[in-house]
Amino acid sequence: ELSKPVLGIETSCDETGVALLRWEPDAPGRGLLAHTLYSQIKLHADYGGVVPELASRDHVRKLLPLIREALAQAGLGVRDLGGVAYTAGPGLVGALLVGASVGRALAWALGVPAIGVHHMEGHLLAPLLEADPPEPPFVALLVSGGHSMLVEVKAIGRYTILGDTLDDAAGEAFDKTAKLMGLPYPGGPALAKLAAQGMAGAFRFSRPMTDRPGLDFSFSGLKTQVLLAWQKSDQGEQTRADVARAFEEAIVDTLVIKCRRALEATGTQRLVIAGGVGANRHLRSELAKAGEKDGFRVYFPRLDFCTDNGAMIALAGAIRLASGQRQDETVQVRPRWDL
Ligand code: KG4
Ligand code: ZN
Repeated sequence: ELSKPVLGIETSCDETGVALLRWEPDAPGRGLLAHTLYSQIKLHADYGGVVPELASRDHVRKLLPLIREALAQAGLGVRDLGGVAYTAGPGLVGALLVGASVGRALAWALGVPAIGVHHMEGHLLAPLLEADPPEPPFVALLVSGGHSMLVEVKAIGRYTILGDTLDDAAGEAFDKTAKLMGLPYPGGPALAKLAAQGMAGAFRFSRPMTDRPGLDFSFSGLKTQVLLAWQKSDQGEQTRADVARAFEEAIVDTLVIKCRRALEATGTQRLVIAGGVGANRHLRSELAKAGEKDGFRVYFPRLDFCTDNGAMIALAGAIRLASGQRQDETVQVRPRWDL
């Protein structure tokens, strides 16, 4: 039955993502038949952050049309589906409930199995959608708006957290720092763009927690350093770019140092990058450089699959469905859920 495509639904935050994937164990990317995405960024921009109630309502409006669009892209009808996967957590409870209700109900109506997926497992497995995917064991750096984690993936479904953030996540640090310099929400990508115009060495910020052993992160102090430097500066256009550059360098350096440490500690030569901050070009090039130097290989999802999307949920769900896991007929979400 899993020769038929799985529908993947992502609604944990401010993107509605839908994808269709036929499970191909040897080359999961080959099985991707369609994917569609609607971003709510404009809806939340005026508020400077995601407004949960507005997010849920917009998922309600967009989810069914996106499912229709994905089916049309793949030239399929709803009866061609072999299963339904949806993000069950972690995330905003109302937003999660939209995807879970639609996904669970659709699977019930069609008489096919359903599965609730952990959002971070989706991110973690996203690089498997690319050509020449990484084989476990590997180390994954998960850096998104809500998480900064180093995870050892011994096998699919067997995860050990090596390090976590003690305060702000990497993406959150990008967003908050962008905000304090007056950039509009969501500031991460805008700050990264600005950093490319910054002058090297104009500012320097610390590399938090790299002077002691361990794989945990802490980014809130960095944000405070930036705030103080920014307040003391002339706050001009070039200064903003210079500060952005120094901030990006500090975060990227810190992430690279910890990735190297994690690879050393686990004796692994494969590193997977996942989550929205994985779209950061400076991070991608620095990790690639470090890999060439140290002899490890870095696997990135394509830029579209770094940030939230339905394809990664279809993939993680298809793997679990193929191994026989099922969600019973209740609608369940877990706003807080450890990997
Ligand atoms: O994975 P994601 O789409 O959503 C979460 O699950 O959080 O990640 C979004 C985060 C945001 O904090 C955003 O600012 C950050 O990823 N981000 C970036 C870049 N693109 C997205 N941060 C730095 N550089 C980028 N190019
Ligand atoms: Zn995410």
